[in-house]
Amino acid sequence: MPSTAPSTVARHFLSILDFTPVELRDTLDLATKLKSDRRLGTKAPTAQALGGRHVGLLFEKPSLRTRVTFTIGVRELGADIVAIPADVMHADREPIDDVARNLERWIDAVVIRTFGQDRLHEITKATPRLSVINALSNEEHPCQALSDMQTLVERWNGKPEGRRIAFIGDGNNVCTSLVHAAMMLGVSAHVATPKGYELPDEVVDQAAGISQHGAGLTEFTDPKAAARDVDAIYTDVWTSMGQEVEYAERSRKFMRYQVNAALMALARPDAVFMHCLPAHRGEEVTDEVIESPASVVFDQAENRLHAQKAMLVRLLT
Ligand code: CP
Ligand code: NVA
Repeated sequence: MPSTAPSTVARHFLSILDFTPVELRDTLDLATKLKSDRRLGTKAPTAQALGGRHVGLLFEKPSLRTRVTFTIGVRELGADIVAIPADVMHADREPIDDVARNLERWIDAVVIRTFGQDRLHEITKATPRLSVINALSNEEHPCQALSDMQTLVERWNGKPEGRRIAFIGDGNNVCTSLVHAAMMLGVSAHVATPKGYELPDEVVDQAAGISQHGAGLTEFTDPKAAARDVDAIYTDVWTSMGQEVEYAERSRKFMRYQVNAALMALARPDAVFMHCLPAHRGEEVTDEVIESPASVVFDQAENRLHAQKAMLVRLLT
């Protein structure tokens, strides 16, 4: 049996869609509490919430924010962190199912950054007792969306319903999870992409199915039309990890999707600028915008810690 874990079937966090809208809202409320309790250190009520538990980190792609915030967050909840080297995932070493069936004998949860989302599903199928957490896949980045929503809820005084956010750039993993979370919190989303880089049809359908408070998803090819009168503008790199061979072609096709001062000026006067980071200044965003008072990118980075701690408490207790 894995340490002190319950013997019931484990819960996973592979997608924002693994939460109901109510669970998402509750998780964000807990994240707010964890953020203010952090100053209490080991006297925080949750300092031993995961005492005696073990959480593995397995990253097949580079990471700064996700790796550091999970490492600190797990420790602040009283659990132990185990770094698992990515080379154990090579299929010529052993089947991924066997990796998972070993891990569930030792640890309670594994935080995985990988390529296809299907690899995460494969692991959950092989291991009923191991919680699997998506730390970014090619398709989704739900941990990022939790902190993005915490950041927006803070800015909007706890009332996200009825607001509008524009995502400008690639209809990628970050965009998908952002749209999922926005719809569930009643925030409408404008997504502006070049042709051929839209959100997957499946995500558009999901958005319609999960939206609350009349929120809607609207797709654009014109970034200016998408940015007009929104409360937040979000962008991400044009070339995600694993797509490096497409860099030159993408740079050309995405050029007019740069978030610059002229684009920000179309949004509401109090609109914030968001980016999951790492950012490529001079490509998807200008230095001027990311360094402007409207930029909340480091709040998003900080909130990764609090939001992920809240998600871990929800999943593992
Ligand atoms: N935003 C984000 O996931 O950052 P890292 O790739 O550094 O973890
Ligand atoms: N879309 C980016 C996000 C990095 C945090 C990528 O997948 O590389």
